[in-house]
Order: sequence, then structure tokens, then C-alpha cells
Amino acid sequence: MSRLNNKHIILAISGGIAAYKSAELVRLLIKSGAQVQVVMTSGATEFITPLTLQALSGNPVHQHLLNPQAEAGMGHIQLARWADLLIIAPASANVMARIAQGQADDLLTTLCLATGAPVLLAPAMNQAMWRDQATQKNLQTLLARGIQVHGPAEGEQACGDIGAGRMLEPSQLLTALAAQFNQGLLAGKTVLITAGPTREAIDPVRYISNHSSGKMGYALALAARDQGAKVILISGPTQLEQPEDVIFVAVESAQDMLKASLKVGSTADYFIATAAVADYRPAQASEQKLKKHNPAHGLTLELLQNPDILATMSKQYPGAIHVGFAAETQDLIPHAQDKLKRKGAHMIIANDVSNTSIGFNSDNNQVSLVTSGGVEDLPLLSKQQLARQLIVAIKKISHKASIT
Ligand code: PMT
Repeated sequence: MSRLNNKHIILAISGGIAAYKSAELVRLLIKSGAQVQVVMTSGATEFITPLTLQALSGNPVHQHLLNPQAEAGMGHIQLARWADLLIIAPASANVMARIAQGQADDLLTTLCLATGAPVLLAPAMNQAMWRDQATQKNLQTLLARGIQVHGPAEGEQACGDIGAGRMLEPSQLLTALAAQFNQGLLAGKTVLITAGPTREAIDPVRYISNHSSGKMGYALALAARDQGAKVILISGPTQLEQPEDVIFVAVESAQDMLKASLKVGSTADYFIATAAVADYRPAQASEQKLKKHNPAHGLTLELLQNPDILATMSKQYPGAIHVGFAAETQDLIPHAQDKLKRKGAHMIIANDVSNTSIGFNSDNNQVSLVTSGGVEDLPLLSKQQLARQLIVAIKKISHKASIT
């Protein structure tokens, strides 16, 4: 269940082209089970209609500070008290300035003063306006007051400029909102998980891959999220739906997966390598589709060894807890013990993939937990049940390694 389930969220929209993205944020919040009240400044209504937000949120949109009709329903103080969280997205330069000054001259700014709930801002403006000293000073004032600021992102802007000023994507804001309701074994921790297969291109239409479905890795992502972690899921191509409230990074090849893992590795407390990474890739991926020439001759592919992601991560980020899986068809435990040492992992979760009812592409799995302290066999479980148990087991190693 999403951490946003039944949470009361006020989404306040100020005037800016990024206001169109707020409609998607409302949709995602509702999908996560949140209750959403939308507040719009008069500027915001120039960019997107209140009717759109009303239809998506299922509630009338609040636009005025002292509207007798609105005050007779949910007045501004009641609304401020109702909120578990107030997010202003997009937050224009003007709105940031007015909140920094403590103004209360419209509904949005009044709510900022009146609410006891955490306030988050997602700035969006022209890059020069963002860089301007006045905005940066306002930003410091807001941060000092405990207001959280998420973004802006860098990139191409609606006005044609390039730089910092783009509002974060709705899915990123959803993750930031969900993280506010952190509870559980992994509250405040970041868990980086690789999942699924990798694809190693032979030519534009062919590749080398394996039967990993991603089910085990995605189940772990959900179990870690449900224990309060911020989860980054780096996934090879799968048929599975992207999990909610999880930062999702799609990759294809082992090299892409390594690059993505290294990029965010410094933020991770736990690295869990569930992915079935192709050990080899074609030395050269042909730019054109390979043709059959002489039917008498086969095709010989030269393969290069791929980098070992788990081994690289454990060397590069020794402060984190590193957990790998071992997919074996024979000598399960000795091979897993060897991988534990070779890859510098704290735990290897060994699954016997010669049994087709567990391991690759099945709904169930049966594993043994291999650590330097010994071997623990777990019973046959659904991947979801197993993932929940694995998170508890992985958390225990961090106690021994004195990560709190
Ligand atoms: O995705 P599913 O269909 O649900 O199936 C789950 C699973 C069987 C894929 C999963 O439970 C599993 O066993 N994953 C690891 C599969 C594997 O590639 O094992 P390995 O023994 O080759 O690798 C050992 C460990 O090193 C793994 O954690 C792997 O992610 C990692 N590795 C391997 C090679 C490589 N180049 N880089 C790596 O990081």
C-alpha cells in the first residue's frame, strides 16, 4: 500500500507554464490513495482551468481567501488544519518572494502561515530569474524556516533558455511527498536495487539476454519502500509495471546498469543486486542488421566480459551494505560463498535456478542466505513474502555492520 494512502495533501498551484504538470501530479496522488485539495492563484488559472483540477481531484478547487461560499464549506483555516502536507507546485519567483516575506494576501500564502503541516516548494521559473540574487536570498530564507525545496531541474525551458528552472517531474515530486511519511525499518534509508535482465546488443534487432522477469527485484523494491526506504530501482527491460513511489531508472545493457548504479551509489545505504546481468556482451554491436551470407557458414560472435556491478559497487562505496543473489544450477552454497568473497558482499541470497518452479520468471522462490557467519535456509515463499523477509534479514546485517 502506498505511503500516501489516505494522506491529506494540499496542492497549491501558482502561475507558470509548469502548471500543466500539476494536473499529472494530482492524478498520481489520487492513484496513490491520497486525498487532494487543490488551491490555485489567479495566475495559475491563466495556465490551466480549475475544472481540470476539480475533475482530477474530485474536489472543488479553492481560489479565493475570503469567498463566503468557500468559507461556509471548508474555510481557509480549516483547510490549513486539514492538511498533512502542503506542496506548492509550481512555485513561481513571485510566490517564493511573498512566502519569504510572510505575506498573507491570498489563499496560497495564507495557508503557508496557517498550516502546521510540512510545506514543500517545487520552484519553476526562467533560469535567470532563478539565479537572480533576490530569488536566491528568498530561497535561503525559506530553507532557514524549514520549508523544503525540491528542484528546480536543469534543462531546456519553455522560453527557449537552458539552465536551472524546470519544475521536477510529477513522479519525482510524488516520491518526495511519499518520503515525508517515512516509517518502518528502513525509514530515512536509501536502498538501491538492480532488477531484471540486461540486453547486450548484437545488432539493431538482436541481443543476448536471459529469462529474468524482474519479479524478485521489483518485489524487493516494494518491500523496501513499504519499510520506509527511499528506493531507487535500476531495471533492465521487463514486462512489469513501474512500482509506485519508487525512483525508477530504465536501462538496457550491463554497462548502462553499472553507469546508473555508480551515478547514485554515493546516496545508497543498501545496494541489492537482484539483476541477472549478462556476463558477456558482443565485442562490437553491428550498426546494421546482420545478413545471412553464405548458408554453409555460421556466425561467430566475439564476446567481451561485462564489468561486475556488485563487485564494483562494493569497492567504490564500502560504507554501504552490499547484497547479491546467486543463480546456480549446481553446488549452490559453495558457489554462493565464493561470490560472497569475490564480490565483497555482506550477503549472497542463493537460489537454485535448475528448479524451474523457483528463480527465473516464477512467482515463487526458495533461497538460502549466505553470509560470513553461516547459511540460513528459508522456506518456499511467494516472491512478495520472500522480499519482506529479506528486507528484515538485510536490515539485521546492517546492525552487525553497525549502520543504524
Ligand atoms: O527476475 P526474476 O524472474 O524474478 O528472477 C529472479 C532471479 C533468479 C534473477 C534472482 O533471484 C537472481 O538470482 N538474480 C541474480 C542472477 C545472477 O545473475 O546471478 P549471478 O550468479 O550471475 O550473479 C551474482 C551476483 O552478481 C548477482 O547479484 C548479480 O546481480 C551480480 N552481478 C553479476 C554479473 C555482473 N556482471 N554484475 C553483477 O553485479
